[in-house]
Amino acid sequence: MKKLVWLTDLHLVEQGRDWPQGVDPLARLRFCLDEIQAFHSDAERLVISGDLIQIGNPGAYGILREELTRISMPYRLLVGNHDNREAMLTSFPELSSVDGFIQGVEDVGNVRLLYLDTLAAEGKHHGELCPVRMQWIGEQIRSADERSLLIFLHHPPCDIGVPALDRLSLVDSDELGDLIRAREAPTHLFCGHVHRNASGLWAGYPLAALKSLHVQFELDLTGSNLIRGDEPPGYAVVLIKPNGIIVNYRDIPAL
Ligand SMILES: [Fe+2]
Repeated sequence: MKKLVWLTDLHLVEQGRDWPQGVDPLARLRFCLDEIQAFHSDAERLVISGDLIQIGNPGAYGILREELTRISMPYRLLVGNHDNREAMLTSFPELSSVDGFIQGVEDVGNVRLLYLDTLAAEGKHHGELCPVRMQWIGEQIRSADERSLLIFLHHPPCDIGVPALDRLSLVDSDELGDLIRAREAPTHLFCGHVHRNASGLWAGYPLAALKSLHVQFELDLTGSNLIRGDEPPGYAVVLIKPNGIIVNYRDIPAL
């Protein structure tokens, strides 16, 4: 069995800046990383699926790099709509940048981990996969063959039923859906962005969205405005077994 730890939407700010929503994102990250190191240091990877910083705080990537020394496992970072590719690569030059995008692929035994870059443009909040990215993604998905395929991406490729969030999802997901639909081996998608836990089926395979490590959005199935919710932050532990993939959710205190 293989184990991954999964976090998303940290929204870190530079030192001395106001906390987004009045909540300290760094306190939550520190608590979470210490818990992960105490209980899940055997994980193959820690994956953080985007919105590492609050928009306009590029200096916060240096803070994140420093905080990640709390854990001993390798980590992998994705971009979200609050992120800045250039600043992110300055602090994390080891992140593979294919065609100028922060996307990458790793094979861990018979498991392929695929990390997508769904950032449309700086300052835009919906997600996008342009033809350049789709060509690379197609090569990675087709060559995964019999391997289990875990795809991490910031923006969900489908609506989750919350209108205020659904207008900010991935706008061009049809080709990705076709590629996944053609798979005949275990496949699972993992998304951030919506600041809520949600799960379902898309393109014939399971999809999970994870709540933020910072603050959550309300489960508002009718309104058009984003409303902050009062649910606690959390993370997930993904177990990959020969016969299946399980996502376990864990809340942490709302510090
Ligand atoms: Fe976010």
